[in-house]
Amino acid sequence: MARLEDKVALITGAGSGIGRASALLFAEEGAAVLVADVNVEAGSDVVAEIEAQGGRAVFVTTDVAEPDAVEGAVAQCIAAFGGLDIVYNNAGGATPDDGKVSEIPLQEFWRTMGVDLYGSFLTCRFAIPHLIERGGGAILNTTSIRAMKATQGADAYTAAKGGVLTLTKALAQELAEHKIRVNAVAPGVVASERVRAMMGDVAANPLARATPLGYGEPIEVARAALFLVSDEARWITGVILPVDGGAAAV
Ligand SMILES: NC(=O)c1ccc[n+]([C@@H]2O[C@H](COP(=O)([O-])OP(=O)(O)OC[C@H]3O[C@@H](n4cnc5c(N)ncnc54)[C@H](O)[C@@H]3O)[C@@H](O)[C@H]2O)c1
Repeated sequence: MARLEDKVALITGAGSGIGRASALLFAEEGAAVLVADVNVEAGSDVVAEIEAQGGRAVFVTTDVAEPDAVEGAVAQCIAAFGGLDIVYNNAGGATPDDGKVSEIPLQEFWRTMGVDLYGSFLTCRFAIPHLIERGGGAILNTTSIRAMKATQGADAYTAAKGGVLTLTKALAQELAEHKIRVNAVAPGVVASERVRAMMGDVAANPLARATPLGYGEPIEVARAALFLVSDEARWITGVILPVDGGAAAV
């Protein structure tokens, strides 16, 4: 039996990188997938790919930092698939504008807070009543190696991902009574499209070079995500899982 048979999953930022890999994998494992992304072309392409492999998916244009958009995406998920079991808050990512507190444009702080932290908060806010109605479910958030180790050089993003990390643990406690598990993945250097564009030679990046297993590909995080949202992880909640080639261990 497929590992997400009869499940409905909402994945934010599913148009590219880790989100795209996860959407394809979850659909392969039987889930109906709501692809939520600001990028219409990328999101629609992922839906077409899922349908071409025989799966079920719907795209909804969604800016996760906008409450109305997130509420709408959740509503469209319920309308399309009749319920919701899995929420994967994946949208986000550092930009080249980030850096030292004393140097970055102030709006970059609010941009990353909006997408990485407020976006995760909003999706939870609007999805939780539906997970409760379903009798339980799984929320998976996305933090980062930068929050695990507080690495230098992306201070706004690091702060936002730190918020995601603690929000995950708080929600895990709050929602256990509803049989809703809340975990997070903490990726290391992953060669998504955005990261390749930002870094060029990913292998030469200092963090990638300091990673025991070197940099990873989006599918590695997608596989860990699949485990954490599946019933195989039914006794796991409040966990921050580094998926980082060993980077957090050194
Ligand atoms: N790639 C890495 O090295 C790495 C490391 C640690 C953590 N992460 C985290 O993993 C997640 C995915 O990263 P990635 O590298 O695959 O990114 P990516 O840029 O390849 O994909 C992110 C997707 O999110 C979408 N998106 C951006 N802003 C959005 C918004 N406001 N609303 C909805 N969708 C939005 C983009 O259109 C894109 O499709 C992010 O949360 C990122 O912070 C990535």
